[in-house]
This record gives sequence, structure tokens and C-alpha cells, in this order.
Amino acid sequence: MPRRPMIAPSLLSADFARLAEETARIADADWVHVDVMDAHFVPNLTLGEPVVKAIQAVSPVPLDCHLMITDPERWAPAYAELGAHNVTVHAEACTGDPRDLAKDLRAAGAKAGLAIKPGTPLEQYVEVLRDFDTLLVMSVEPGFGGQSFMPEVLDKVREARRLVDTGHLELLVEIDGGINADTIEAAAEAGVDMFVAGSAVYGADDPSAAIASLRAQAARAFPAA
Ligand code: DX5
Ligand code: ZN
Repeated sequence: MPRRPMIAPSLLSADFARLAEETARIADADWVHVDVMDAHFVPNLTLGEPVVKAIQAVSPVPLDCHLMITDPERWAPAYAELGAHNVTVHAEACTGDPRDLAKDLRAAGAKAGLAIKPGTPLEQYVEVLRDFDTLLVMSVEPGFGGQSFMPEVLDKVREARRLVDTGHLELLVEIDGGINADTIEAAAEAGVDMFVAGSAVYGADDPSAAIASLRAQAARAFPAA
């Protein structure tokens, strides 16, 4: 099956006073990306379980929860239980074996995602990733929207792609941070499947048109099957 690029707009750049309308505006996206920040793991605070539950109840697209929080073992399963499609925890925040947490997330009915910050090497998590469904490669330091893309993380994307294409891993490769019309092609060429885009989608006059345009741009840059 040929790969197709998928877009996950990040609600971090949406109007928090109108979350239901903001999810309706991106109904043709693949996932909606929800950034949960706890002011400990990252220097910013966004929203937590009650708000994600409210978004889950109205969203026309599956939720992709990106948990930038400490103690994910304690907090992450609740997001799976409330119905999030994919729940991603940071490798740097796990205190135990991330595989145990992946098991818990899957048992609660979600896909399990592992995120790595720009400075975190991929190598040490390759075996762990065999138990995950998504790998989220951060292309900015987590914490804020609207930052500049860090092209140096694409080496990790290329390596993850190689591991998937050779059958060693079976997961979606996701990228998050600074994805827009200027950067999406390089990310697509490197092997990303799922593109998170906050300001590039919600900063556009027509978010739906921005999604279509990013998707088409990525598709053109995908290596031929
Ligand atoms: C940053 C968040 C991102 C953010 C991306 O820590 O994880 O999801 O919303 O925003 P843009 O696309 O504007 O860089
Ligand atoms: Zn994110």
C-alpha cells in the first residue's frame, strides 16, 4: 500500500474559547493534535483531562494527545480511557520502561506514541519502539507553537523510516514543530507520515484549504513507492 501524507492540526494555535468550532473547521484533517502541557516538563501550561474529554465529545476527527508532562505513567492512561485515538508520551519523562506504559495505553483502547525531543537520540529507543504505534519526532523544543523548524532532526526521521521500511519497526512517523509550506517537503522526503501543524493551519484564513495544500505538497515530495 502506498503511503499517504496525513495532517494533524494542533489546537495550540486555535481559539481556546471556541474549541468545538475550531475542531469543526478542520473536519477534513486526519487527526486533531492536542498539546497537554503541565508547566513542569515544559515551561508552559495548557489544558488537561477535563478539557480533552470535552474536545473528544465534539471533535469530528480522532484525537492525537501529545502529553508534555512529567509522570506519564500516572496520567497518560486516562487520556486513552476517555477515547483519545493516539496517546503520545515523552521518552524523556518516563521513569519506568516505556513498554509497560505502551501496554497500558493499548489495553485502554488507544494507540501508543513515543515522543523524542530534538536533542534525544533515536538509537536508545529503537527496541522500545517495537511496542509503540507512533514515533513523534519533535522538530522544535516542546512548549510553544510558532517556533522555527529544526532541520537537523530529519536524520532521525530518515533512520526511523529505514527501520519501518525494512520491517524492524511498525509505526507511523510523526513530526511536530515548525511544519509549514516552507518545511513540509523536506520532512516528507525524509519519511514522515503524519505532519502536525499548528500556526500553519490555524493561522491561515481557511484552515481547511491549508490542510489540503499541505497534504498535496507533502504528497508531491513523497518518494515514489
Ligand atoms: C509544541 C507543540 C506543537 C505546536 C506546534 O510544543 O507540541 O504541537 O502546537 O505548533 P507549530 O506548528 O506552530 O510549530
Ligand atoms: Zn505537539
